[in-house]
Amino acid sequence: MNILEVHDLTKKYGNFSAVKSISFSVAEGEVFGFLGPNGAGKTTTINMLCGLAAITSGSARLAGLDYHSRLPAIKAQIGIVPDESNLYDELNGFENLCFCASLYGMGRREREKEARRLLKLFELEEAAQKPYKHYSKGMKRKLTIAAALIHRPRLLFLDEPTTGIDVASARQIRSLIRELNAAGTTVFLTTHYIEEAERLCHRIAFIVEGRIVRSGSLEELMETVQRDTVLQFTLSRAGARLSPGDFHARFPGFTLEEHGPETVRIRTTEEINLYPLVEFFEQQQRKVYEARVIRPSLEEVFVRVTGLELEKMKQEKGGCRG
Ligand SMILES: Nc1ncnc2c1ncn2[C@@H]1O[C@H](COP(=O)(O)OP(=O)(O)OP(=O)(O)O)[C@@H](O)[C@H]1O
Ligand SMILES: [Mg+2]
Repeated sequence: MNILEVHDLTKKYGNFSAVKSISFSVAEGEVFGFLGPNGAGKTTTINMLCGLAAITSGSARLAGLDYHSRLPAIKAQIGIVPDESNLYDELNGFENLCFCASLYGMGRREREKEARRLLKLFELEEAAQKPYKHYSKGMKRKLTIAAALIHRPRLLFLDEPTTGIDVASARQIRSLIRELNAAGTTVFLTTHYIEEAERLCHRIAFIVEGRIVRSGSLEELMETVQRDTVLQFTLSRAGARLSPGDFHARFPGFTLEEHGPETVRIRTTEEINLYPLVEFFEQQQRKVYEARVIRPSLEEVFVRVTGLELEKMKQEKGGCRG
């Protein structure tokens, strides 16, 4: 069963279309990922689906409820973790959670019980009495997720849940997302980390410049590249600069991609004979140190489907990450 169905959803800011007639559905119980570079329209989509931004045109339904007429009933069933925190600096962790609970009309005993349960689940018990403004970035993100769960939503929206936080917190958050999902919460997340989408999501949509360019289950997406063989060569830095054009002219059916000063990848669906390739590099005065087959990953699919360079996805918006 689909918990969320979206048809031709569009968002315009003046003459600029940030989201262009996108359609997709999210099945109950899955982790669905929106993967795209900066400015692709991920946050704009989430904001429309959480009732934080008006829908310009198109339609959407959550658990059968129409966004145009049933927004309050929809909001009771969803939780949102925005890309920037929506909690109060002056309140402590426990108070922030209780305050969020009160917005959903929960009684005092229930609020406090849920707040304590979530502080424990997110390993924030020791920070419960600390003002939010003194939390680390990772702790802030965890409390923001806890706050979004206070009313036990069926569908949780997470906008870049691990961007700008330390590696250990990011890992903990990914594992919490998996646990929440295993316990029955449907998850819609956005990310520009391809690896994160690959690790967490059952189905993924690639969004670029406001359009969904491809979507499917991880298995379906991987089929795009399953026929490819990718060979990675480690070469000496010294020697001639390689020309992908010359390479392609010499080996039609093969493409050459540079992945760094010493690394190139060769992609083909044809059978590979190593010797002429090595000979080609040596003719360019590039010594061959290593050649190995690369297992296809979602990165390959992304490059193939979007035509974007991987570097585009690795640009940070600030914060650290390893
Ligand atoms: N309030 C606004 N007014 C005008 N343009 C906007 C507004 N909000 C977003 N945009 C534009 O809409 C496009 C999509 O922005 P959005 O924030 O949805 O991208 P995103 O995929 O979330 O990117 P990021 O990875 O940087 O968070 C961008 O070109 C952005 O500049
Ligand atoms: Mg965003």
